[in-house]
Amino acid sequence: MTTLPPYPASFYAALHTGTEGDLAFYRRACAGASSVLELGCGDGRVLGILDVPERHGLDLHEGLLDTARARMGDDVHLHPMDMRTFDLGRTFDRIILPFSGVYCLLCDDDLRACLRQVCAHLSPGGAFVLDAYGAEAFHADAEPEDVGDEDWNELAVVEVDGHPYTVFERSVWDPDAQRIDVTYRHVRLDGPAAAVDGVIEQRYLLRHQLRAHLLEAGLREVEVFGGFDERPPSRDAEHWVARAWG
Ligand SMILES: C[S@@+](CC[C@H](N)C(=O)[O-])C[C@H]1O[C@@H](n2cnc3c(N)ncnc32)[C@H](O)[C@@H]1O
Repeated sequence: MTTLPPYPASFYAALHTGTEGDLAFYRRACAGASSVLELGCGDGRVLGILDVPERHGLDLHEGLLDTARARMGDDVHLHPMDMRTFDLGRTFDRIILPFSGVYCLLCDDDLRACLRQVCAHLSPGGAFVLDAYGAEAFHADAEPEDVGDEDWNELAVVEVDGHPYTVFERSVWDPDAQRIDVTYRHVRLDGPAAAVDGVIEQRYLLRHQLRAHLLEAGLREVEVFGGFDERPPSRDAEHWVARAWG
C-alpha cells in the first residue's frame, strides 16, 4: 500500500465521491456523539458533514489531508497517521471507517493491528461503524479467466482543476487472496497532457470474515447489515454496513 506512488489528490477526489446514502448514514450513526475519529478520512468528504463537537481524522495521504484541511479549516483535527499504528492517547464516542477503507488493509495482520487500535481508542459504550462494497456474489462466482484482466474499461468523465478527463479502469483480481488492485488512468480531453494514473490496492472481506475479526478484537454486539438502510444482509447485496460496540 505504501510503496506505490500516491494517487494525486485532486484526481482521487474527483472520481471517488462516495456511495449513495453514505453521508446521511454516518450523520445518523454519529448523532449524539461528542467526539468522532475517522480512519482514512481522505479529503474530508464524510468528516466535513458530521455534526459532532470534536472531529478528528487520520490518513496516510498528505495531499488528501491538505484537501481536507482546505475544506474544513481549524474545525477538525487532522493527523498524518497510519490506521494500523495510530496512537492519539485518548478515546472517541465513534470511530468510523467509511467507503471500503477497511479493504485498504491488505492482510489479516494489518486488519488485526487496526482493530487493536480501534478498541484502544473507543470510549466505554462507544461504537465502531464501517461500510464497504459487498463481495459475496462475485467472489462465489469467480472463474479462472476472470483473474488478471488487463482490459481498460471506460468509467467516467471527471473535471480536475478545470479540465475534463476520461477515466479508464483496469483491475487485477486474485480471488484466492481476495485482492483487487485497480489502476485508474485519467486522459485529458481538452489538450495534450501525459495520462495520470492512480492505483488503489484492496483486499476485500466476506461478511463472516469481517464479523469474526470484529469479535476476535473484543468488540461487542457486532451487527452487519445489507445496506445503509440497515436491511438484513444478502448474498447479492452491493454493500454492507457494520456496527460494533467497545
Ligand atoms: C477508500 S478511501 C476513503 C476516503 C474517505 N473515508 C471517504 O469516505 O471518502 C480510503 C482512505 O484510506 C487511506 N488509507 C489507506 N491506507 C491507510 C492506512 N494504513 N492508514 C491511514 N489511511 C490509510 C487512503 O489514503 C484513503 O484516503
